[in-house]
Amino acid sequence: MKKVSIIGSGNVGSTTALYLAEKKIADIYLIDVIEGLSEGKALDAEEGAPIRRYDTELRGTTDFSELVDSDVVVVTAGIARKPGMSREDLLNTNAKIIKSVSEKIAAYTPNSVIIMVTNPLDVMAYVALKTTGFALKKVVGMAGILDSTRFRYFIAHKLGVSVRDTTAMVLGGHGDSMVPLPRYSTVGGIPIIELLPKDNIDKIIERTRKGGAEIVSYLKTGSAFYAPAAAVAEMVECIIRDKRRILPCSAYLRGEYGIEGIFIGVPIMLGKNGVEKIIELELIPEEKEALYTSGSAVKKVIEKLEELGVL
Ligand code: NAI
Ligand code: 2OP
Repeated sequence: MKKVSIIGSGNVGSTTALYLAEKKIADIYLIDVIEGLSEGKALDAEEGAPIRRYDTELRGTTDFSELVDSDVVVVTAGIARKPGMSREDLLNTNAKIIKSVSEKIAAYTPNSVIIMVTNPLDVMAYVALKTTGFALKKVVGMAGILDSTRFRYFIAHKLGVSVRDTTAMVLGGHGDSMVPLPRYSTVGGIPIIELLPKDNIDKIIERTRKGGAEIVSYLKTGSAFYAPAAAVAEMVECIIRDKRRILPCSAYLRGEYGIEGIFIGVPIMLGKNGVEKIIELELIPEEKEALYTSGSAVKKVIEKLEELGVL
């Protein structure tokens, strides 16, 4: 049986564990620093198994040595956004947590693929890559699938159609400068630019960019977790089953799209080794510019981290 470890048994981590349990594709380990949290959530999920009909093994622990031989490690450890906080506000605290967690991943399960979830996402993926020294393809960030599923939902809602036939592509950093691409977003194969007037699309794009903050404004004490966990589970399945799907994820670029040395959201082929391939779309000048602007925002945060001496 394959093994998936999830570091951080909070809202996103534990919901991901549940979604994954129902997919029956791997044993699941939940790891957190809070005594009892992972054990309690794993046991609770196992007790639901007879009704939900999965026989997945779930285990909770505070012992990082149990990461050993994981095929995939999902990292959700850290603090989440509260109202008024940007993702960058989480920077300092989460960078230290990710550094320490990454050292443990490198020590106990050096052949795994890391899916970073902790915010600020693109920068935390960078911290994990630099700390572990893993191959570039072995570290991938979750954001584009979440931003795209929000975009898809808003499109379907506006048109009054099923969400099932919608596709969407959102590139860029996971922040307010993300780059939703209407030209590459479709309903039943028809680009949305043929289905919706521009001002409707602009409003949907704006709502997508602020999608995370919209949920924070309702929840007040934390951020979204159902849609994020669904997106993570999709990525884990893709890696465990070597599905080689084309999905928007945060990947380390070495000149693709004219961007060098940072993680940013682009379409990739996701398979058993992680980032099997980076897909370069033909972008029109305004899309390219938006992606560079988003890349510059990610670079600035990395520079801040270097100034703080965390890297
Ligand atoms: P949460 O607060 O519910 O859970 C975080 C968990 O991490 C807590 O249980 C905490 O004890 C644990 N933790 C802290 N330090 C740790 C360490 N050193 N080792 C192991 N566990 C540790 O937060 P939630 O809602 O699950 O979010 C987690 C992170 O994911 C946040 O940074 C949030 O901003 C981010 N996020 C990113 C998304 C994305 O699209 N990339 C979407 C949703 C959340
Ligand atoms: C989101 O987009 C908080 O990044 C998280 O919901």
